[in-house]
Parts: sequence; structure tokens; C-alpha cells
Amino acid sequence: MKWSSVCMRVLQMNSMKSCTIKKIKECTMLSRDHLTPEIELHLITPDCYLWSASEEQSPFQDPFWAFYWPGGQALSRYVLDNKELVAGKRVLDVGSGSGACAISAAMSGAINVTANDIDYVSCVSIEINCNINNVFVEIISDNLVGSSCDLWDCLLVGDMFYDSEFGFKMFTWLKKLCLKDKLILVGDPGRHAFKETIIKNHLQCVAEYPLLKNTCLENTGFNTASVWKFVCDK
Ligand SMILES: C[S@@+](CC[C@H](N)C(=O)[O-])C[C@H]1O[C@@H](n2cnc3c(N)ncnc32)[C@H](O)[C@@H]1O
Repeated sequence: MKWSSVCMRVLQMNSMKSCTIKKIKECTMLSRDHLTPEIELHLITPDCYLWSASEEQSPFQDPFWAFYWPGGQALSRYVLDNKELVAGKRVLDVGSGSGACAISAAMSGAINVTANDIDYVSCVSIEINCNINNVFVEIISDNLVGSSCDLWDCLLVGDMFYDSEFGFKMFTWLKKLCLKDKLILVGDPGRHAFKETIIKNHLQCVAEYPLLKNTCLENTGFNTASVWKFVCDK
């Protein structure tokens, strides 16, 4: 590839990123109205026009990153309240969304934190949220599900059991990693895919938190969210 083409590509990527940052800031509000008020996040709140906008009116497709999911809230709260679990560890936040769980690990003394999300806009929003909270987190967008994860000691999994098929894939992967002695913490409000017996049999509940009123309204049917630790018989 010619040098001029490389420069052009870099300029295009920078311009796309600036445009995404601008759109994220325009469409969200800074919020601490969740279980971890020590973390400020750009979120779509009832005061944002996107809250009640139709799909066609939204500049983003599936903006999962713009919500702080109940499972992620519980998991971040647990990490911040039990800093010794991640302190000195290399932590991976899988399906990071807004980046909240990764930020909680960085605030709790993890030696190295990686936020991973396959959505490009999510990766940009994680960077914005890390800057606001004065933490550094490495951000990667590869699909790591199924990989060996040799670079990390601890995995944080916030609200990733929203679909049965994908949930089972996650479970099979996490079980293998647990056998390699990695600490695996999962946050979930009791979603159907998570409640399936095979998954629950390999987990130990370590905490349960009542959700704030606004989170209950956003997530009909859920009033609490729990944190679970993977346990594996060798
Ligand atoms: C329900 S949201 C949870 C976000 C965050 N963990 C929280 O609790 O607030 C799920 C996130 O997982 C991401 N995701 C889905 N499949 C993924 C995969 N294979 N690898 C990494 N991220 C993935 C989505 O883009 C989305 O941001």
C-alpha cells in the first residue's frame, strides 16, 4: 500500500472517531444515577431525546453502550466494595458496553485492565468514559469468546446472558477458563438464559443488590441484580 493511501486511511479513521465522539456527547447525558455513583458515565437518560425516539430517528444502531445494564451495575458495585479481588490482577471486561466494569476494576487497583466490546461505538464511548473518570484502560474490539485469554487473571462479565444460544456459548467458554484458575465474576439480574440450571450449577452467588427506581423502570421485571462467581470441579 502506498504511503499516501496509509495517511488517507488514518485521516479517515480520525475523522470517523471525532464524528462518533461528537454524536455520543450530543445524544447522551452524564449520569451518576446508578449503583456506582463514583463512576460518571455518558448514558441515554429520560432527559435525552433518544430516550423516546424511534429507531429511524437514532444515529446509532442498538446503542447497548448507552445504558448501564443491571448486571453490570451489580458487578461494578461488587468490585468497588471488594477491591482486593482485582487489586494487582490483569482484568478483562468482556462485553464492556459503557466501560463501567472496566473502570471499576481500574479504580480498584487492578494492575492492567482491558475493556472488550465488538461494537465500534461502544469502544469510543469506553474511551470517553475512562477519560471522564481519570482511568486508563486498554480497549479492544476483537471477538474473544472462545479464546484462551492467557493475558488475563480475572474476567468480568456484566449482563451478557441476554440470549440463550449466546449465553450457552459464553458459559462453555467461561467454564473452560475457570478450569485454568481464572477468577470469573458474572453480574446478572435473573435473565432467562442465565437461570438455566446447567449454568447456575457452576456458579456461587456472592452478592445481591436492589436496583434503583430508574433502573427498574428501564428493565421491567427486574428489581435486583446479583453477582456470581464461577466454581469448577477439576
Ligand atoms: C447487555 S450489554 C452489557 C454491557 C455492560 N457489560 C453492562 O453491563 O452495562 C452487552 C454488550 O456486549 C457486547 N457484545 C456482544 N457480543 C460480544 C462479544 N462476542 N464480544 C464482546 N462484546 C460483545 C455488546 O456490543 C454490548 O455492548
